[in-house]
Amino acid sequence: MRINSRNRELQERAQKVIPGGMYGHESVALLPADFPQYFARAEGAKLWDVDGNEYIDYMCAYGPNLFGYNHPSIEAAARAQAALGDTMTGPSEFMVRLAEDFVGMIDHADWAMFCKNGSDATSMAMVMARAHTGRRKILVAKGTYHGASVWSTPSPQGILPEDRAHIIYFAYDDLNSLHDAVKAADGDVAAVFATPFRHEVFQDQAEPPEAYAKGVRQICDEIDALLVVDEIRTGFRLARDCSWAQFGVKPDLSAWGKVLANGYPLSAVLGADRLRAAAQKIFVTGSFWFSAVPMAAGVETLRLIRETDYLERMIAISDRIRAGLAAQAAAHGFAMRQTGPSQMPQVLFADDPDMRYGYFWTEAAVRRGVYLHPYHNMFVTPALTDADVEKTLTVTDQAFEELKRSYSSIGPQTNAVVATRLGILAAA
Ligand SMILES: Cc1ncc(COP(=O)(O)O)c(C=O)c1O
Repeated sequence: MRINSRNRELQERAQKVIPGGMYGHESVALLPADFPQYFARAEGAKLWDVDGNEYIDYMCAYGPNLFGYNHPSIEAAARAQAALGDTMTGPSEFMVRLAEDFVGMIDHADWAMFCKNGSDATSMAMVMARAHTGRRKILVAKGTYHGASVWSTPSPQGILPEDRAHIIYFAYDDLNSLHDAVKAADGDVAAVFATPFRHEVFQDQAEPPEAYAKGVRQICDEIDALLVVDEIRTGFRLARDCSWAQFGVKPDLSAWGKVLANGYPLSAVLGADRLRAAAQKIFVTGSFWFSAVPMAAGVETLRLIRETDYLERMIAISDRIRAGLAAQAAAHGFAMRQTGPSQMPQVLFADDPDMRYGYFWTEAAVRRGVYLHPYHNMFVTPALTDADVEKTLTVTDQAFEELKRSYSSIGPQTNAVVATRLGILAAA
């Protein structure tokens, strides 16, 4: 019997002192009941919840864990700096080293500025774009996530129309729609925000055609607006350079976060020389932005990105899992859609409009110690061992068997928010 008494107890206590018991993307409110909310520790590709249950983790803290939790050389770098000082009256020398190393790795970048979360970075890029161009409008693909600031949060609660008065939405991968947005902006476009590939929750992912990436760049050039590529989720998971470098597309600004220090809080905006003056004249800061420990961890993380074959191994491991899942789904008679790059997989069942089968299957896997996600893209770490991959595929096979046995008796989605959300998507 799987124990979850400690987790339940914490959830009950949290209800009293944390609004809703939990908030944000790590809330389990939209997940199946058996997903734990609280964790005790993590190591490599594994997590242990507060009841001691072990999981092979396919969420990587929703992205930040790249090389494995508690990675020896990254932790050594962080510990060495922690012994000297972290949040001080000024940054450590790691800030300069980090900027030099990062700029040296990213073709379009001549300078870097650091912050903490992805939302800091995207908002900073927006302000820089307006400061540089003297224009107001920011063009954003509808449904793409660029953070939880007033201009970007997906929830309208507490947000004024004025907060978004100068955000214009267009359809991802639709250059005609982008042209229409440009026309609506009437010469006032500061920047177009681009996500390297389409990775929205509750739906299939889509990799951008090269023509789209090039077309966005061309439109920006024609109207002298800036292209901002948001690499916060994708950075260093698709490539060692900016993702759209593969298409020969150079953004003016790029926003980075999540993996930069393998779990230590660090994000960044990178930019080209012509944006240097704008970057210099805006006022951006935060009490913890200059902390030395995440920057020390970041220098070591970037070294591992440059000097190891982590990317190739991550892709090879992910491809193996994807092929295994496809074979199992076919053997059990299920149609499954696996979209996006295999190292950031979205796994959805076909013919599952309210996701009841996906929810059942991922919950069956979680109960057996493999933490999969039913509606958010997952993240694969190269820290997965062969034994982890084998166990994962054994568990997913058992989860398919359980799904097959229970198929006809699985009821509709009971989570009202999820049902509404899917209803909205179906109607869109
Ligand atoms: C593409 C993208 N942009 C921005 C953000 C915001 O990052 P953060 O949650 O660190 O503020 C995220 C977070 O998931 C993201 O995926």
